[in-house]
Amino acid sequence: MSKGPQALHLSLEEQAMLAGEAGPGVAKAMEIVVALGRIYGAARLTPVSSVQVSGVSYKNLGDAGLAFLETWAAQGARVQVPTTLNPAGMDLVNWRDLGFSDEFAQRQQAVIAAYTRFGITPTCTCTPYLVGHAPARGNHIAWAESSAVTYANSVLGARTNREGGPSALAAAISGRTACYGFHLDENRQATMVVDVRCPIGTESDLGALGFMIGQLAENRVPCLRFHDWRAGDLGLNTLGAAMAASGAVALYHIEGITPEARAGAVVRPGAETYLIDDLSPGRKALDGTCGIIDLVSLGCPHASLAGLREIAERLDRRRLKTTLWVTTARATREAAEAEGAVSRIEAAGGLVVADTCMVVAPVEELGFRSMATNSAKMAFYSPSHSGLQVRFGPLERCLDAAVTGKWPAARAI
Ligand code: F3S
Repeated sequence: MSKGPQALHLSLEEQAMLAGEAGPGVAKAMEIVVALGRIYGAARLTPVSSVQVSGVSYKNLGDAGLAFLETWAAQGARVQVPTTLNPAGMDLVNWRDLGFSDEFAQRQQAVIAAYTRFGITPTCTCTPYLVGHAPARGNHIAWAESSAVTYANSVLGARTNREGGPSALAAAISGRTACYGFHLDENRQATMVVDVRCPIGTESDLGALGFMIGQLAENRVPCLRFHDWRAGDLGLNTLGAAMAASGAVALYHIEGITPEARAGAVVRPGAETYLIDDLSPGRKALDGTCGIIDLVSLGCPHASLAGLREIAERLDRRRLKTTLWVTTARATREAAEAEGAVSRIEAAGGLVVADTCMVVAPVEELGFRSMATNSAKMAFYSPSHSGLQVRFGPLERCLDAAVTGKWPAARAI
């Protein structure tokens, strides 16, 4: 990310907000945005059209985070642009049935109430782009959830840095973000090329690939060259989520596929090229060794309507032995419920859980010890965030584990 020596220019309106003329809550937001602008050498601020705020689960925020939000909201600050929330620590409706404690639920509801006082829509999802909040190409936005940031930058062609919770909230309240990093053309060129020469057949393959690329890239911008491209656009959120988890990738390109790569040359001269012709190192790094599975977690990033339909279809006439959580946005759950996909999953014994996911929920309190998932991001974070033993593999293998309670042997191809 380039830092410039120039002074940060503020408009008269921005200066007035910083001076407190719009109230102390707005002044606090401007202080954060301006401080980031100075740290990163921005020449100016830019208006944003959409904000997504992370730091919603009480598990991560704790009492100090809740008090910070309540104090700021009490200063009268309100968001100026459409703003959504990342997943919370529980399903906001069915939390009791799922085993969350009254104490946790009360604190989590207080967090949501504080965000609602700012005027934020409590979507509680990492896929705002699937529930009516998809920015257009070139839009400047301030999103915080790393998988959503990568999807917005790479697949939608919008422009955002990887915001933190407070900086995203500050952008929502001020309506602005500091114009540096991925808001600028010069930082959106690929600084490395990845030649992908192995077949990609499933979303878990995309996850394993993303995991390997993230490790190589760290915070660089990769441009991927596929020799056998079969994944649709939706699989791309799996790819980006994994890259953002194992590395700090916030933007990638795919030759001939993603919007900026379709529009012209995106690779900076001299960029180094890497070859990936085998996914087994990624699969092995993400997969554990436990045999008994007491939870199967699907929907990371949050499941789309098409994803819920596919799971419902694959579960027809099957009966689950192990707990299955399919996590999704509440709006997606409602759409799936209306067309019968939720009741088909429930008929097999699975649960379609909204507003949360197994990384931000207090899983350890719910008694789960081992998990199977088809998500590389979930497999990467769950051991450290939730103390779970994890098995990682394709959807069908995870569903087989849900039926038997055991991680199945790999099928012969
Ligand atoms: Fe979303 Fe949770 Fe995965 S926030 S990307 S479902 S870890």
